[in-house]
Amino acid sequence: MGSLVPTEGTDGSAPVYPMRLQKFLREAGVASRRRSEDLMTAGRVKVNGEVVTTLGSKVDPLVDVVEVDGTRVSWGSAPVYLMLNKPMGYITTMSDPQGRPCVAQLVPQGDFPGLYPVGRLDNMTHGLLLFTTDGSVGHGLLHPSHHVHKTYLARVEGSPTLHSIERLRAGVVLDDGPTAPAQVDQIDVDGESTLLRIAIHEGRTRQVRRMCASIGHECIDLERISFGPLSLGDLALGAWRMLTEKEACSIRLAAGKSMLE
Ligand code: URA
Repeated sequence: MGSLVPTEGTDGSAPVYPMRLQKFLREAGVASRRRSEDLMTAGRVKVNGEVVTTLGSKVDPLVDVVEVDGTRVSWGSAPVYLMLNKPMGYITTMSDPQGRPCVAQLVPQGDFPGLYPVGRLDNMTHGLLLFTTDGSVGHGLLHPSHHVHKTYLARVEGSPTLHSIERLRAGVVLDDGPTAPAQVDQIDVDGESTLLRIAIHEGRTRQVRRMCASIGHECIDLERISFGPLSLGDLALGAWRMLTEKEACSIRLAAGKSMLE
């Protein structure tokens, strides 16, 4: 492993000190510090070709070759992307002066400075919420020109007629203007309520709830199951996970970034 004295940056810049391996992995965007420790103790991390399981081990980011599951990890300001299965009752903000439960309490914000949610889910909506430290990707995903689709499962009161569903599909007029055409499918009816799958690419405040209300069927439960190319899958309510490399590439593309940016 690298020396324990500060080394000068390759370009003659400020010295970089050897750092704990779990800190290196966290800063490289591999995983949170806790999860990085799990990766180490599971024997999945190698430094200069040797498995390192000792949690206090140090590496020099400019000298040592670190691999996780055989893939080289490079250090620097690697962006972080993670998804949370947001539960109901949490507001989408990283701090709340009124002390209400907020999503910041559910993600490792201390490990990843600059982490913020991409868009919002309202307090009573649950499901997929993406977080990133990468401002330009977050911006790109929310930009209307990129038409990033979000899919929701909406349980609504009663049983909308086919005509009402056609209205949702074509676009309804809300108090902030008409909605763009949406994909709407009826998934299930149980006599008292109906489950609709609704995919939209706009991101107006409480849009799905307002769309359902506009056809006379209040939404009684709302879950987001996909965001662009990402699917919630079986992630437990209240849990978060890092995106895989493939998922991170796919959202960068959805945000209009090239793979080289
Ligand atoms: N539409 C809503 O009504 N609520 C959300 O949180 C997201 C979309």
